[in-house]
Amino acid sequence: MIPVYDRRKLYLDDKAAIDAAVARVLASGRYDWGDEVPAFEGELAAWLGAGHFVATGSGTAALKAAFRALRIGPGAEVITVANTDMANSTAIHSVGARVVWVDIDPLTRCMDPAACAAAITPRTAAILPVDMYGQPCDIRAFSKLADRHGLALIEDACLALGAEIEGQRLGRFADITCFSFSSGKHLGAMGNAGGCATQDAEVARRLRLVSGDGQDRARHRMQPRPLALHHEEESQNDRMDEIQAAVLRAKLPSLDRTLAQRRAQAARYSQALAGLVQVPAEQPGLRHAWRNYVIETPEREALARHLTAAGVQCNALYSPPMHLQPVYAGLGVTRGQLPKTEASADRLLGLPIGPHLQMADIDGVTAAMCRWKRTD
Ligand SMILES: Cc1ncc(COP(=O)(O)O)c(C=O)c1O
Repeated sequence: MIPVYDRRKLYLDDKAAIDAAVARVLASGRYDWGDEVPAFEGELAAWLGAGHFVATGSGTAALKAAFRALRIGPGAEVITVANTDMANSTAIHSVGARVVWVDIDPLTRCMDPAACAAAITPRTAAILPVDMYGQPCDIRAFSKLADRHGLALIEDACLALGAEIEGQRLGRFADITCFSFSSGKHLGAMGNAGGCATQDAEVARRLRLVSGDGQDRARHRMQPRPLALHHEEESQNDRMDEIQAAVLRAKLPSLDRTLAQRRAQAARYSQALAGLVQVPAEQPGLRHAWRNYVIETPEREALARHLTAAGVQCNALYSPPMHLQPVYAGLGVTRGQLPKTEASADRLLGLPIGPHLQMADIDGVTAAMCRWKRTD
């Protein structure tokens, strides 16, 4: 089987460094409020070219912290897309705001700026575009819209660590850019982890506060620790664990290499599959991070059956979209209201990509795809 993910192989590839990092934390006795999280934050901010990075317990926690930090709350509307993780809608609802889903640009599968503009009302407080499958959304268009209407701009780059716009990595284009380091992401923890990049020191301070029980981290790191507790604001315990930060620090030096591997694999797929199925289009001036390689075909079910029989794992990512999930049936957004999102969700299929694979695996997938067309 050529798998979509192989987390164990990724661990074994970096075993010595990961084991040493975990052992270092275990031996230190500091599993909480230690040195690993601040060190990771500094290293990742430098890698991103962002002013500040605040580590959280997951990508979902990063999104929730972003809304709290920017004081978006009950009564506010947040515009986002439905062809994505539930985390976006969850985070919006977690602060009492209302989710407003708009349609996508079928070419990029990211939020359509025109659809976003049309959905702005006097209650809109923020725009939350998502960099789908690793391709940057049209963040400049959203930035202009946000400026014109006085809205917050939170970018969900949970699938797009290492993606670039004209040579600059994502992390400095929105008020807050959220990332996930869950185990299957570009930089994967041994479980869950995430964080937020921002250029604004006060926003970074608030992100730490709202994801750290409303406490100032500096007080926890004072020696001796002040006796009195000091909670500035009611918030969440959504910090990153020291062990996860140490693991991520151990894996960070391999990130450029694994991103290059993903790019080479995607190029190989696109070369072999163009004409057979709809291949993803990398937009000019943007560098895709290729978390997923997602093709589209009207014969998705037949292709998936063929690939599975041929020993190739594939997945239907974020399909059906959020507005058609039972949990949100009560919101009254029905099939037909987001036609481009729905058409894409019905046709898309994710193929295996990532550093757990060799180029021969990619060639194995493309060969299986070509056999499908010949036997069709
Ligand atoms: C686009 C997007 N946003 C948010 C999340 C949530 O991240 P996490 O699983 O780290 O909470 C994910 C998870 O895959 C995602 O794909």
